[in-house]
Amino acid sequence: MSLLSTLASELDQMAQAGTLKRELALKTPQGPIVEVEGKGEVIMLTSNNYLGLADHPAIIEAAAKGEHDFGYGLASVRFICGTQTIHRQLEGKISEFFGTEETILYGSCWNANEGLFQTIALEQDAIISDELNHASIIDGIRLAKARKERYKNRDMNDLRRALDATKDARNRVVMTDGVFSMEGSLAPLPEMVSIAREHGAFLVVDDSHGTGVLGKRGRGTPEELGVFGKIDAYTSTLGKALGGSHGGFTTGPKVLVDYLRQKSRPYLFSNTLPPAVVMGSLAALALLEKDSSLVTRLRENTTYFRKQLTSKGVNVREGIHPIVPILIGDTAKAIAMSIELLDRGVYVSGFGFPVVPQGQARLRCQISAAHTREHLDRAIAAIADVAQKFGVLAA
Ligand SMILES: Cc1ncc(COP(=O)(O)O)c(C=O)c1O
Repeated sequence: MSLLSTLASELDQMAQAGTLKRELALKTPQGPIVEVEGKGEVIMLTSNNYLGLADHPAIIEAAAKGEHDFGYGLASVRFICGTQTIHRQLEGKISEFFGTEETILYGSCWNANEGLFQTIALEQDAIISDELNHASIIDGIRLAKARKERYKNRDMNDLRRALDATKDARNRVVMTDGVFSMEGSLAPLPEMVSIAREHGAFLVVDDSHGTGVLGKRGRGTPEELGVFGKIDAYTSTLGKALGGSHGGFTTGPKVLVDYLRQKSRPYLFSNTLPPAVVMGSLAALALLEKDSSLVTRLRENTTYFRKQLTSKGVNVREGIHPIVPILIGDTAKAIAMSIELLDRGVYVSGFGFPVVPQGQARLRCQISAAHTREHLDRAIAAIADVAQKFGVLAA
């Protein structure tokens, strides 16, 4: 069989199983209501645009100014000739936001994770990772020569076991998502901080879904859980709550960041962030610093949405995060439900294996501060209706 026919036959199998991912084209900016090509206007319930900043006028204006004053691109990586004053400013602002010493920007958080482990953890070291960590962490860890241990999702006894099993390593890095993106659940950071300290391990949190979302001031999962300032280092993204465009970073102790600037391959060998993104991100951080009412609004919307759906018998996974998973079980059914919801004007994604474990397919709703009560009520009614039609509503 030729390569292409192998690929074609696998695609056929996915099509027959009803598990092919579809890409729909938006004709409008990202927002609480979008126009989907061929479908018309729908309520957006599947975007990481948590604070509704993706089309915020102040951010668009800052990005346009960035392009005007600093150009479209730098045609270089950071260390050759791709560093502008605004890159330094953004790194400084991110450090202030996280209460850390220093920050290094990457093209994405994927790149930040890809560039972390292989750089800091060598053969004599160990990396200990939650089994549900994001794909970028899994792939990033694969690239490292260090010994690898996985512990069961949020299971602190199993984390202790993994630490005991690696006690002969020179250095140990414990890595967790702040928020697990398919679950909307939070890592038990207070316990992790004390366990990591007890074992002399270095704790890193990927707070991509916590940054701008959790904590009173949107400073993330550690702020939410009362351990702000106690995490050794973070990776996170500029591509979700902070404007939703592109870019990621690692932030933590100065010596870590200095080292990454010298040795981290995606930083050394991939282009610098474009000025529009840098200035847009600076504007997003400034907005959040001045006024955390969007964070409050996001929490109110989330609480309302979760409560209403639950009261209607929809099987919502408990939590506080604007990622609201609705457990369905069967992948084809979850995807069929998402298609039906789109026809009814609600854009929500269905996820199945291998994105989530076999038999745990789900719809994943994501709430934004930009949703109005009316948007949420319409979405809630449609979801409850479709859940009833597909026989997944509690009796
Ligand atoms: C936990 C986590 N880490 C990293 C990433 C990748 O972020 P980026 O889009 O900036 O590469 C994501 C994006 O989905 C994520 O959810």
